[in-house]
Amino acid sequence: MQQFKRFPNPLESPPAMIVCICHNVADKAIRQAIASGAESLHQIRSQLNIGSCCGKCLPCAKTIVRESLEDLGFSATALRREPIAA
Ligand code: FES
Repeated sequence: MQQFKRFPNPLESPPAMIVCICHNVADKAIRQAIASGAESLHQIRSQLNIGSCCGKCLPCAKTIVRESLEDLGFSATALRREPIAA
């Protein structure tokens, strides 16, 4: 699987990388949606409409959602906000 460089603060990330070409959605938009309270890949798909055309963006979007949730301190094994078990 392709690895993406992680940036803890979505507002300090470098220039955006387009994740969903069909809907012109960048990684930064996904990270900002997570930082603003989106809790799952499902919510991201609903908010940004990614994956609704060809679906080729979903593996990359899934990785970004997982990284963003983990950066915020959530366990992202199920790709939704869950407190990290102590
Ligand atoms: S690249 Fe996202 S739906 Fe096609």
